[in-house]
Amino acid sequence: MTDHAFARMFFARIAIAALGLLLSFGAFAAAGGAVEQAGTDIGDRASLQRGAQLYMNYCAGCHSLKFMRYSRMAEDLGLTEDEVMDNLNLTGAAFGEHVISAMPAGQASQWFGQVPPDLSLITRVRGSDWVYTYLKSFYLDETRPLGWNNTLFPNASMPNPLWEMQGLQRPVHEGVDDIGEPVVARLELGSPGSQDARQFDQTVRDITTFLEYVGEPAALKRQQLGVWVLLFLTLLTFLAWLLKQEYWRDVH
Ligand code: HEC
Repeated sequence: MTDHAFARMFFARIAIAALGLLLSFGAFAAAGGAVEQAGTDIGDRASLQRGAQLYMNYCAGCHSLKFMRYSRMAEDLGLTEDEVMDNLNLTGAAFGEHVISAMPAGQASQWFGQVPPDLSLITRVRGSDWVYTYLKSFYLDETRPLGWNNTLFPNASMPNPLWEMQGLQRPVHEGVDDIGEPVVARLELGSPGSQDARQFDQTVRDITTFLEYVGEPAALKRQQLGVWVLLFLTLLTFLAWLLKQEYWRDVH
């Protein structure tokens, strides 16, 4: 075999392997295709602040964030103690306390059949894309105790907290599954809410961004620190270059 033919065969093999890899990624993406991209950016402070406000108004009544303190949130989100205590703390907890839901666990399990889980680590457990998609996937279902169901998390016992903004989604059924239940093919907006689809996506993205921050508050600090680390490395490289110039001057 000539060198040329060998090289051609070699590259053809690599190309086939790469194609195979690409196709298998595609297959995985299709399998989990129900999940949408959240598009969150925890460096976006305005989004974080809006998310915190939305969370406190629409989620904190049921869900705790037991690893997050109001004071820490104020510091990280660039808010004053007064702003947090007046707008974000709806339970009358002290500034240094954790964000604990006011709902008694006994009542919650009576109402929902279970206690709403703590959401401190939810984006790390489920992923941001999952949380984002979950919040957009509620629909009306009279067969459920509270009248709500969710395409991503079937038979979830949580009612849609954001329906006034999103509007009411209804299922479009197509065919039946193994046990004869109708399959939800897609959802359509039965009656509109106070926000259009784009605004509502942003609302859900803000909440998800906030939960992503709560799951790893140190990530904010790490990003800020990263800039200084890069500056330091640049300076170090420059010094090393100067040193090299100095050494080689004698050699030449
Ligand atoms: C009226 C009470 C209530 C409100 C308000 C509420 N939830 Fe829930 N949530 C629940 C209950 C109950 C569950 C448990 C669902 C289940 O496991 O069947 C739950 C489950 C969840 C889960 C899934 C947790 C898992 O099992 O992985 C997420 C995520 C979640 N809620 C996020 C939110 C967010 C974000 C908000 C605010 C926009 C919110 N919830 C508002 C009651 C509530």
